[in-house]
Amino acid sequence: MESTILQTIPSALATGDILLELSYLVSALLFVFGLKKLSHPETARNGNLWAAAGMLLAMITTALLHKNADGETIKLTNLLVIVLAILVGAVVGWIMSHRVKMTAMPQLVSLFNATGGAASALVGLLEYPNAVAGNYGSIAVTVLGLVIGAVAFSGSIIAYGKLDGKVKDLRLSALTYINLLMLVAVVVVSVLLVISTQPPSDMMWAIWVLFAIALVYGVLFVMPIGGADMPVVISLLNALTGIAATMAGFIYQNQAMILGGIFVGAAGMILTLLMCKAMNRSLIKVIIGNFGGGGVGVDKEVGEMKEISASDASILLNYSQKVVIIPGYGLAVAQAQHIVHELDQLLESKGVDVRYAIHPVAGRMPGHMNVLLAEADVPYDKLVEMDDINPDMPNVDVAVVIGANDVVNPAASEDPSSPIFGMPIIGAHFAKNVIVLKRGAGKGYAGIENHLFYNEKTRMYYGNAKDSLQKLVAEIKNM
Ligand code: TAP
Repeated sequence: MESTILQTIPSALATGDILLELSYLVSALLFVFGLKKLSHPETARNGNLWAAAGMLLAMITTALLHKNADGETIKLTNLLVIVLAILVGAVVGWIMSHRVKMTAMPQLVSLFNATGGAASALVGLLEYPNAVAGNYGSIAVTVLGLVIGAVAFSGSIIAYGKLDGKVKDLRLSALTYINLLMLVAVVVVSVLLVISTQPPSDMMWAIWVLFAIALVYGVLFVMPIGGADMPVVISLLNALTGIAATMAGFIYQNQAMILGGIFVGAAGMILTLLMCKAMNRSLIKVIIGNFGGGGVGVDKEVGEMKEISASDASILLNYSQKVVIIPGYGLAVAQAQHIVHELDQLLESKGVDVRYAIHPVAGRMPGHMNVLLAEADVPYDKLVEMDDINPDMPNVDVAVVIGANDVVNPAASEDPSSPIFGMPIIGAHFAKNVIVLKRGAGKGYAGIENHLFYNEKTRMYYGNAKDSLQKLVAEIKNM
């Protein structure tokens, strides 16, 4: 009996395996708790640290304990190269994240997403020749990781260019057909590679062809999608990177990588669907429909814009009962989140009810306004989602639109020819008065005119949002 127990005591080798599995389990739990904490601004920073700790643990135990098909752990020389690569990556990432301005955050997120896609595609490229012909499962995950990673990489680079204003939309009707053709080509070459009986090392030319088509497809798939539909694409690219990482995890039979990829892929997919709902678009229409941007929309003969001074605006606000602030991208550009919070506290101290109306695609990245306002310690319960605030907009005395444009553009519900038609907006035009803070005649991301600015009830308060708000606060303090 005793000897049987002794026989079942794991050998040093098996102990390593058990430790590895256990560390992956702990990593998975850290990912889950981290994600949970990320869902609230107050706990988000901690959540990020939890998830990062999970990733660090998985990286260390993988490097020390993971075995290849022959049962060998990583060689010391390879380990040194890995540590060096991680150090270089960490230093570059650290410098980039510290140098980046808050307004360039969406671009940075796109770049990081691109690197995730590239890494998975490279894993596919490197591991394909090691696959065994006829092992359909392993070849399929290798090819999928390569294709999806390559599309996510080149697509994210174009998304970065668009968010940075460096890449303009390319809108050709032929592009829809070219993209469909490329998609068919990707599927056909992938299937041929999976079912091929040739040794994979003899098929490297085909894998390079597939890689090239996937890269070009990533570019062409994002090029025509413009204007207001970018949020959907950005979330979709994020989901693709997660799925590609999952495939890479399958190649290496690494549970932490599979799980990490699944979390990113699932979160990205949920976000994509939320963004589609926010834009009232179906995913398939965004991908193949040449939607958003391009159009000019409104004719110029819509009346004139009426200006308001800081003192008149402050009187209007001071004597209101209900004020709703509608923040947009311009608030982020002006970095006016702290001063807008000062304004809301000042008005509240004078008995005015102040809330913030949050549009799901305001700004340039999902949750942009939530993050921005949380940074200024605006209480979370002051932020009201679009669907909850809209029914109350007719009772609002003043809607203060700060650096927002597309998300309050009535053309989305009134003008079927508008490129943003169908997208739900915050009904600023239903409020009793509207004050718009912007610098001049600049258009929003979709590049179209906005009738709200010409509305009888609207007054334009021109200037950089931060300066304008500072003047308002000073005026109200003196009342
Ligand atoms: P936008 O429609 O982009 O409008 C921003 C407005 O802010 C501009 O009209 C600009 O006018 C004004 N502005 C810029 N800098 C300013 C400053 N320093 N002070 C005051 N005003 C300033 O913003 P939005 O309403 O937030 O809409 C977001 C748009 O971006 C949507 O079309 C959305 O689909 C798209 N988008 C969103 C995402 C995500 S994921 N949220 C990603 C990509 C694209 P002036 O130049 O006259 O000041």
